[in-house]
Amino acid sequence: MAQRTLVTSALPYANGPIHIGHVVEYVQTDIFVRFLRSCGKDVVYFCADDTHGTPIEINAAKKGIKPEEFVARFQDEHQRDFHDFDIRFDKFHSTNSPENRHYAELIYGRLKEQGDIERRDIEQTYCEKDRRFLPDRFIKGTCPNCKAPDQYGDACEKCGKTYNPTDLIDPRCSLCGTPPVRRHSEHLFFKLSRHADFLQTLLRTPGFIHPGLAAQLQGFFEKGLSDWDISRDGPYFGFAIPGETDKYFYVWLDAPIGYIATTEKWAKDTGKAASALDYWAADADTRIIHFIGKDIVYFHALFWPAVLRVANFHVPNEIKVHGHLTVNGEKMSKSRGTLVPARDYLDQLDPSYLRYFYAANLGAGVEDLDLNLKDFRNRVNGELVNNVGNLANRALSLLAGPLEKKLAPARAEGAGRALVEAALARVPEVREAFEKLEYRVAIKVITEIASAANAFLQAQAPWAQVKKDAEAARADLSDAADVAYLLAALLAPVTPRVSEKLFAQLNAPPLTFQALATAKYPLLDRTGVIGTPEPLLPRMEEERVNAIIKAPDAAASAPQPLAPETKKETQVEVPAAAPAVTTESAAPAVPADIEFGDFLKVALKTGKVLAAEKVKKADKLLKLTVDLGEPAPRTIVSGIAEAFAPEQLVGRNVVVVANLKPRKIMGIESRGMLLSAGPGGKDLSLLDPGNVAPGSEVK
Ligand code: MSP
Ligand code: ZN
Repeated sequence: MAQRTLVTSALPYANGPIHIGHVVEYVQTDIFVRFLRSCGKDVVYFCADDTHGTPIEINAAKKGIKPEEFVARFQDEHQRDFHDFDIRFDKFHSTNSPENRHYAELIYGRLKEQGDIERRDIEQTYCEKDRRFLPDRFIKGTCPNCKAPDQYGDACEKCGKTYNPTDLIDPRCSLCGTPPVRRHSEHLFFKLSRHADFLQTLLRTPGFIHPGLAAQLQGFFEKGLSDWDISRDGPYFGFAIPGETDKYFYVWLDAPIGYIATTEKWAKDTGKAASALDYWAADADTRIIHFIGKDIVYFHALFWPAVLRVANFHVPNEIKVHGHLTVNGEKMSKSRGTLVPARDYLDQLDPSYLRYFYAANLGAGVEDLDLNLKDFRNRVNGELVNNVGNLANRALSLLAGPLEKKLAPARAEGAGRALVEAALARVPEVREAFEKLEYRVAIKVITEIASAANAFLQAQAPWAQVKKDAEAARADLSDAADVAYLLAALLAPVTPRVSEKLFAQLNAPPLTFQALATAKYPLLDRTGVIGTPEPLLPRMEEERVNAIIKAPDAAASAPQPLAPETKKETQVEVPAAAPAVTTESAAPAVPADIEFGDFLKVALKTGKVLAAEKVKKADKLLKLTVDLGEPAPRTIVSGIAEAFAPEQLVGRNVVVVANLKPRKIMGIESRGMLLSAGPGGKDLSLLDPGNVAPGSEVK
């Protein structure tokens, strides 16, 4: 039987909403799973809520509800958010479940049997008023190093120094403000230090973890691995440790066991496996892959594999680590409003945009990834909406309109066939990029394929050809539709909804990476008819993009003010000199009346922008290449650079004054003028004729 793959994403804390930083990880994993599935692999994808620990227990108490009820609320909310981001787990479970208790107890029992659990007396910070031990984050005081007040018990946020809570000057319990005391308690330790050799070998195993991270983890071995405290005293929300009084498993012991518990729950619910052990037994023929963020590497690459090995379970094969999301170049922050809840995004925008943008920026490394809102809009509009979307729309609307939806038979040779074959030849690059988690490389190849097909249509001009030789136009358009079909397949892991729409519009079954391994020209069944074309995705509007960032305290009913960083982008500058309306000498706003015949002298035509670039040494000018349905595109220099970035224009339909006398602007001959509306400067909108073929008359 073929090897089975089990993939996980880290379990989000059931302590708050999913935000767009989390989404990086779940989208990265979901793309990988969809890709493997499209390759025909037997793959399951699991996740769960991480429900235990002191913060959750205290937050529930503050709300006056039981921790079980508190985490149940997030369980539902998280599942909805993931679902609406098109993230498809085979099972999303909870660490506060009978399955997890079972495996936590089983694994702990085995660690004990193997002599890997040791009791030790330790001293910790305790609040006599709250009658609880305090985790470092629940103690505040003055930094012993820089004397900054109000710092946590583990590290100073001002000077960056790390220390013990006992080092703080004037320490206080953050719950009640009283000074804590030190108190003894007996804790249970997992003897991690005994497994240094095993772990070092594992870290060196090719493919286990990014070599850079393996090298970084080496530092722990040089210092000597410490044993790991796996118990906490009550009150604590977690599983009671069998055989102990008022002692609980530390949240990080049972959290990864949640991966196994979720497998068990899935096995029970679906009957697709006898139990979790089909995947997790030490000798099971499975490939286990964990996707995690760089902040939790220590737990997944050291503790977890050692625990699994001692307990005789399957050790993970691969740990895929990603960096963190920043927004507009800065760490996400509540006070800036950039810690955007997944739901705030979904309220404004289609998930495909963000999935695409994350993919376009993700590589296999651990670097952070930035969501700059302007880049986000430009990139997605330029590549996904315009390049891919326009190809599909151009090809399909002409086929559907004048050509009765019928495809042309395959051609024995010619530019169209060569186009499809060249596109097919690039599939291995895309496949390899997805496999290696170099999604940005996959996206690059995909956009190049789309650009080539758009250039082909440009050259063939089927919109003109259709009037002269309908069958020649049909053949070209069918080849372009073949490329659109291929693009839908290649993009399916990234933007599944867009691909589904495209498959439906092509009236073709989903095309998989498995089928592509042996696919040949033509890809579409050319005896068939296509479906009904529709625009794939609307352009992303600036207002909507900016609206995902809300001021943290904005009342729900009040109009949401935008965060300072983004405000700049939407502010419209008031022209320095407003037209004077009171002076009599003011020039009339409207020119004198003209005869209809005068109007007829102006040839207005629709065009499509094929390329755009800035004009050197001219801040306001763009050099555009515009298709006016003529044998060769025209060069037009336009003073719209303050309002539009070049990449925003490529693919757009415009209205052009086609019979202006050619004029040299900054040494470039300009042949025509784009029509726009608005006060000018940054505040301009281009006239959009809608979806008509380039060269149509405007009257
Ligand atoms: N509960 C633990 C994981 C237990 S796994 C057995 C946890 N939860 S978390 O909610 O804080 O984070 C869940 C995942 O989201 C982690 O892998 C974390 O790295 C990732 N991310 C959280 N914030 C992130 C960004 N800003 N950017 C990218 N990933 C982020 O850790
Ligand atoms: Zn207290």
